Amino acid sequence: MTSPITAVVSNEDWHYSPLTVVVIGASGDLAKKKTYPSLLSLYAGGLLPKEVQVRGYARSAKTNEQFRDGLRPYLEKTAVEKGVGTEVLEGFLEKCFYAYGGSYDDLEAFERLEGEIRGFEAQASIADPPILFNLGFESSNPKPTSSPTPKCCNRLFYFAIPANVFVSAGNAIKSKCMSTGGGFTRIIVEKPFGHDLDSCNELTQALAKNFDESHLYRIDHYLGKEMVQNLMIMRFGNVWFERLWSRTDVAAVLLTFKEPFGTDGRGGYFDKYGIIRDILQNHLLQVLTLVCMEPPGKVDGEDGGEDIRNCKVNVLKCIPEIKVEDCVLGQYEGYHDDPTVTDKSSTTPTFAAIRMFVNTPRWHGVPFILKAGKALDERKAEVRIQFKDAPAAEFMFSSPCPRNELVIRLQPREAIYMKTNVKTPGFSSQPIQSELEVDYISRFNNEHAPDAYTRLILDVLRGRTAGFVRNDELVESWKIFTPLLHKIEKDRIPPLRYEKGTRGPSVQDEVVEKWGYVRNAEYVYYNGKVLPKSKI
Ligand code: NDP
Ligand code: BG6
Repeated sequence: MTSPITAVVSNEDWHYSPLTVVVIGASGDLAKKKTYPSLLSLYAGGLLPKEVQVRGYARSAKTNEQFRDGLRPYLEKTAVEKGVGTEVLEGFLEKCFYAYGGSYDDLEAFERLEGEIRGFEAQASIADPPILFNLGFESSNPKPTSSPTPKCCNRLFYFAIPANVFVSAGNAIKSKCMSTGGGFTRIIVEKPFGHDLDSCNELTQALAKNFDESHLYRIDHYLGKEMVQNLMIMRFGNVWFERLWSRTDVAAVLLTFKEPFGTDGRGGYFDKYGIIRDILQNHLLQVLTLVCMEPPGKVDGEDGGEDIRNCKVNVLKCIPEIKVEDCVLGQYEGYHDDPTVTDKSSTTPTFAAIRMFVNTPRWHGVPFILKAGKALDERKAEVRIQFKDAPAAEFMFSSPCPRNELVIRLQPREAIYMKTNVKTPGFSSQPIQSELEVDYISRFNNEHAPDAYTRLILDVLRGRTAGFVRNDELVESWKIFTPLLHKIEKDRIPPLRYEKGTRGPSVQDEVVEKWGYVRNAEYVYYNGKVLPKSKI
């Protein structure tokens, strides 16, 4: 089977040009758990140029060998998950190098790094088509249809560092490490992009002194998830969804993020940011913009990225500031026991449910409820589009007809299902809620699908911008959340306590129902299993 993506990428010029990836903050958690494993997946799938090197940079003194030994366990885990052989893994590690400096603006260290990159680029030759190892990208070594020629050497910098050193690292790269001769210099910047509107503007202005938008790829990894990327096709490639997709038929929209663990050693970061900044202002809001936006002119091709981002910004501009009355805050019991949470009286929320509105003609009056929490009962992220009650159903049937609901489950186990009322099988004539569903593993056998970071790093190399947050999106999203965040912090609004492993503060169901979303507690998604007789 030939994967369209491998065939397409194999014909792109960048794929025949030498590439250096520099991971800034290579010693950190994100680099080890996400950045390097994603690079390994791309390498193993034949999606990186043949002439590639990956250079890590951080402040800790290490040799290449020590650095590789530190990475190996993380890469081995990926190798098992993705079916990568040891030879491929070791081949990748040989392409990984490490450099360290005194700080993230140590110009001498960046000059040495530049020397190493230049040395590699000088000896890198015209690459043959890469050998493909076929991982999740299902390829069979497609031959390029034309013969692309390398034009230049490209450089990709991945900022896996805390935001307080973004600007220093940016200055050092600008002064010492920019690509020359027409090659690209692209920079992946991780969240958080500031902690409120002013700090976001400061960061943006500081980075803009050195880089324009074409250099910067602000990553929100939720935009790389399969089901989030699926939203464009689902919405605009199906005539029946688009017709239902508005205030005429939709009663409420619920976007949920749940995690079964707490701060787990990331309390230093989390306590300063809280769940609203960590999840709602970026991941859930980004998904919301894709759910709400008007159709873009193009989804793919050269204009696709900007068309989509323009439509997303238009949505954000129509969301009013959130009021504190439209918010339920919680904190799990035992939050202060994490030694990395130093403020033992911290009121930082670890759970939030927020109601917002999107004042466009399509969505006017429909409540959008964003709910996220740590240390809850399960890991789950999903979008629920709840439709209005079936008209006059209460007069026709002697028992209630629950609302239809389209559920797009982002994780775990991607699925789309429409909660649909059917007749209870057998002698009964009562309605019962069942589903029309697409379960991705059963339907597409997608267990080895590329993860979000893998897709997004490939998009950066390909210059595809749709999956990245543009500067104006960022500004608009901070405008929506900043007044609420400032109020919560100024007034030290006490969060409601909830026990670890529960669904969060118990009041939430009542509030969410008052906001317009009706939960059918009777319904359980059976995911292909047979419904027990007791439920019928
Ligand atoms: P880490 O705290 O692990 O920091 C990364 C590296 O940066 C460290 O190894 C350290 O390297 C250096 N560093 C840490 N603190 C400082 C400091 N105060 N000043 C200068 N350098 C420092 O961060 P993560 O890897 O967890 O995250 C990196 C970035 O990615 C952050 O912006 C984070 O918000 C974001 N992110 C992380 C996620 C995750 O799951 N970890 C998820 C989403 C975003 P050394 O001391 O060797 O120089
Ligand atoms: C990160 C947050 O952005 O997303 C973390 O900082 C959170 O707190 C993580 O755990 C969740 O990502 P995923 O892909 O596991 O849902």
